[in-house]
Amino acid sequence: MYTQSMDVPSDEVSASPALSDAEASATFDARCARGEFIEAKDWMPAPYRQTLVRQISQHAHSEIVGMLPEGNWLTRAPSLKRKTILLAKVQDEGGHGLYLYAAAETLGTSRDDLIAALHSGRAKYSSIFNYPTPTWADIGVIGWLVDGAAIMNQVPLCRCSYGPYARAMIRICREESFHQRQGFDLLHTLMQGTAAQQAMVQDAVNRWWWPVLMMFGPPDQDSPHAETSVKWGIKRISNDDLRQKFVDAIVEQAAVLGVTLPDPGLKWNAARGAHDFSPIDWTEFWQVVNGHGPCNRERLAARVAAYDEGAWVREAALAYADKQAARQAAAVTPATERRSPP
Ligand SMILES: [Fe+2]
Ligand SMILES: [Fe+2]
Repeated sequence: MYTQSMDVPSDEVSASPALSDAEASATFDARCARGEFIEAKDWMPAPYRQTLVRQISQHAHSEIVGMLPEGNWLTRAPSLKRKTILLAKVQDEGGHGLYLYAAAETLGTSRDDLIAALHSGRAKYSSIFNYPTPTWADIGVIGWLVDGAAIMNQVPLCRCSYGPYARAMIRICREESFHQRQGFDLLHTLMQGTAAQQAMVQDAVNRWWWPVLMMFGPPDQDSPHAETSVKWGIKRISNDDLRQKFVDAIVEQAAVLGVTLPDPGLKWNAARGAHDFSPIDWTEFWQVVNGHGPCNRERLAARVAAYDEGAWVREAALAYADKQAARQAAAVTPATERRSPP
């Protein structure tokens, strides 16, 4: 587990408490510039810690809210094989949420606080999960495009300067590759089917394409935290560059599938060596981020209900842990001390 970083020996900064804040800050910046990992016990500037708590917790929330649109199809998957695959994928997403909550906790914020921020609407999660999944093809498109965009976003995070986050991302990215592959395979199968199945795939691609492009975040000139995130090695590639890489990769895959991407402005630009595409409707993005997407209320209500209904599991786990601890304490107490007085 990556939380082992809690026990990593202190670095040059935290071993030198006599350093002034300015010196510590300069040493920290130099470590980031050299590409060193920052560990949980290391000194770090407060804004670096805050940026990471915000980013990692948003990421964790996105993983667990992301289970909902797909969970909607677990009981309706068209075959045992597809049901098994989807179950495994949704379970993976739950695991990703747990790795990431644990990584955020290494920064000194409790999981209860993180969850409370999600449930009260103070914390954000990826806007993409506020869109509905009315057909089986949506499940394929989520795997192909949503997990595909997640991989593009997350692979650079494996080299993020904060060690616990970077190590969590390595495992997550391996599993995301399987997620994208299963989505592509699902769609490929449907595209070999009837005209109605092909039309269902095309309709799903049409609905998801633009929201997926928004997953990379606002244009670089409107990204509020980008500059310091790059300086501190949290962000390695800009939103617009990642979006471009994604479009270029997906155009080829869409051709293999036989689907059309719903953008008449999408065409190869030989001079740039990349695809041009039409402007994105950022009004829609901000509406969804600010709670007014098609499923925002439903998603949050489902999360809160799941948390409340699971209260007895948490209480039982705590009671069991207390019992085990009491037994262990009794086992190490010498027998003479445990003997009752005559
Ligand atoms: Fe995930
Ligand atoms: Fe995934």
